[in-house]
Amino acid sequence: MFESLERLPEDAILGLMAAYRTDGDPGKVDLGVGVYRDEHGATPILTAVRRAEAAVFATQTTKSYVSPIGNAAFNSALETVVLGDAHLALTAGRVRTIQTAGGCAALRLGAELIKSSVGQSVVHMSAPTWANHAPLLGGSGLKLASYPYYDAASGGVDFDRMTQALAALPSGSVVLLHASCHNPTGADLTDAQWRELLPVFKRGALLPFIDMAYQGLGRGLAEDAFGIRLFAAELPEVLIAVSCSKNFGLYRERTGALHAITASASGSDAALSHLARIARTMYSMPPDHGAAIVQEILGNDPLRKAWLEEVDVMRARMAGLRREFVQQLTAACPERDFSCITRQHGMFSLLGIDVAQVRAMRESHHIYMTNDSRINIAGLSAGNLKYVARAVAEVLH
Ligand code: LMR
Repeated sequence: MFESLERLPEDAILGLMAAYRTDGDPGKVDLGVGVYRDEHGATPILTAVRRAEAAVFATQTTKSYVSPIGNAAFNSALETVVLGDAHLALTAGRVRTIQTAGGCAALRLGAELIKSSVGQSVVHMSAPTWANHAPLLGGSGLKLASYPYYDAASGGVDFDRMTQALAALPSGSVVLLHASCHNPTGADLTDAQWRELLPVFKRGALLPFIDMAYQGLGRGLAEDAFGIRLFAAELPEVLIAVSCSKNFGLYRERTGALHAITASASGSDAALSHLARIARTMYSMPPDHGAAIVQEILGNDPLRKAWLEEVDVMRARMAGLRREFVQQLTAACPERDFSCITRQHGMFSLLGIDVAQVRAMRESHHIYMTNDSRINIAGLSAGNLKYVARAVAEVLH
């Protein structure tokens, strides 16, 4: 049966992780996969997570099944992190949540829900977008298209072209948006731009499907959810895919959720029943451990405070690195303007070098980034900033 299978190429991001691991050069630099790193290049377990994990071990009494929608206390605690306390959609009883295996499963479940509701629809994604969006959403059978988003010349959002394209979409189209910390560009919508987009969604009856994988790592916990909170208050239907990988550092625990908001409480109940059925037929139930940890952190004031402080540290470190990196780049390469990196947010920016130059960074300098020249800002450190900036200057000349 399987003789006809041909070996597939490596995943664009995960393949890079493997290549980095096998590089024996002591000066190698990993700017590839989106994993937070501290000044020493480590991805430590957050202190709040360690403390919560100890509490979970001490109090958990069974490993019996939970349910396809996962941990209900986790689900409702996450709703308030994402939407804020007493959000209109919450008080109206319009929000339902299913715990998922990371943000990836949330994206896929959302796509499957759309497929089971309307049969066929087109999901419009920003150009560019995270490399795994198309496989995750397209894998459900939905058609994919893209809308203009990034303006490479300014390093910001090409908002006029974006809004024109969205305004021309057929009614009922699905639009995938990044809540904040756009992956791979770091170019985010401003609050004013979210407000301007709202009537475009209303007029076109567009469904916003919002991916939030970096809450707290861009401008702040509430600030990064501005667009979500606005759309969830003003639009009848919104899907929100959330990942706890980065802001809780729970990467391997696969912890996330899909929030489904529909026009009425009964509509949201129906949507949740479909999501539970889809999960049951794909993997039955999400893993529990990460959600138990997040539930513990969010339900315990000192732990929650400790977690928020750790999120602040991660965010401040990346913002500082952005400034220092641009200083080093400007010193090494004065003819080129890299200042957009300081205006961008979160874990990623595009260096704007071509594939051959990305390859030269890897082969001659042992610096790893994805082929689109996306760099993980957190992979920079005081020890490698200058080295990376000089290597960029060298491959550009
Ligand atoms: C990334 O974009 O590097 C991360 O979200 C990790 C992944 O799964 O691709």
